[in-house]
Amino acid sequence: MIYLDNAASSHPKPPGVARAVADALALGANPGRSGHGPALEAARVILDARSAVAELLGCGDPARIVFTANGTHALNLALKGVVGPGDHVVSTVMEHNSVLRPLASLERAGVAITLVGADPDGRVDPAGVAAALRPETRLVALCHASNVSGTLQDAAAVGRVCRDRGVLLLLDAAQTAGVVPIDVEALGVDLLAAPGHKGLLGPQGTGVLYVGPRARIRPLLEGGTGVRSEQRTMPDELPEALEAGTLNTPGIAGLGAGVRYLLDRGVDAVRAAERELLAHALPRLLEVPGLVLYGPRGADGRVAVLSFNLAGRDGAHVGFALDEAYGIAVRVGLHCAPDAHKALGSFPAGSVRASLGPFSTVADADALVRALRELSSL
Ligand code: ALA
Repeated sequence: MIYLDNAASSHPKPPGVARAVADALALGANPGRSGHGPALEAARVILDARSAVAELLGCGDPARIVFTANGTHALNLALKGVVGPGDHVVSTVMEHNSVLRPLASLERAGVAITLVGADPDGRVDPAGVAAALRPETRLVALCHASNVSGTLQDAAAVGRVCRDRGVLLLLDAAQTAGVVPIDVEALGVDLLAAPGHKGLLGPQGTGVLYVGPRARIRPLLEGGTGVRSEQRTMPDELPEALEAGTLNTPGIAGLGAGVRYLLDRGVDAVRAAERELLAHALPRLLEVPGLVLYGPRGADGRVAVLSFNLAGRDGAHVGFALDEAYGIAVRVGLHCAPDAHKALGSFPAGSVRASLGPFSTVADADALVRALRELSSL
């Protein structure tokens, strides 16, 4: 099997990830709840993972990294924890349903929402974000790279707009954390949400939310934290304020190992390898007869999420044939981001999406191009 579905969940993981999960399961114990040896060791595992994620994101204080169940949980926590009735939120048509659906629910509760459009390659103009701001705008929610077209947005420019206007910036880094170097402080990001199981190379069931010093955020869940147990309210201090209930220690241990792998290899090096692979694959893909590629044609403005259609072919059939006849795993359809397809011109049919990862090779990309050439000639 040639796995080209890394935008959905990365595979394979570095070998240390499965070992760290197994070690944490063997350890047992609940971090931060008891004072015995295994509980203290579990707490050390969690702190180590928190510190690794903080280092990867350029965050000086590991307590500002909150562990969540996935990227969707982190986004819901950020959106529903920060805005309320009377507030205005600016977001974009390139967002995933994990932002669009919470925003729609907030809208029903009295929050005003503006979605800024994108050009046909999926690029959002930071000036369009600036123009959409109002005095009551509380938050801008921006997808760093589209899970449909791979289009990278100019997060630094949007960060500057938000800083100048006193608005919080939430960055959805589902397709960029661990893939593109990110420094939350330099980018002016107040909140960053990411799943643990994509570019961060951890197991499913993990996610992170970075909470910057300007953000005041209410918890989505309330319950036990192991600290300030005498209070009826959640503690104020991070990360406990936003981490009610027992953490997913085995998953977080695996996430820590995935992020340690990235710190050792360097996200710069991961991105450089991805760009090299894109520079090889993009022109070859574009030569496949009848192939329509969505998003930027060059490696610079995108990540390795490659969405396309073959003229006159149903994407579902193409995806099925890639799997059945060529052993190539891709995703087809709307990829939970309907408005992005409208901007890109691929709605309602959607697209075939091949997404490369840090272990993808030139041979993988060539196999995809060969298969598509054959399918296009049938
Ligand atoms: N959001 C993930 C994807 O785009 C699951 O496939």
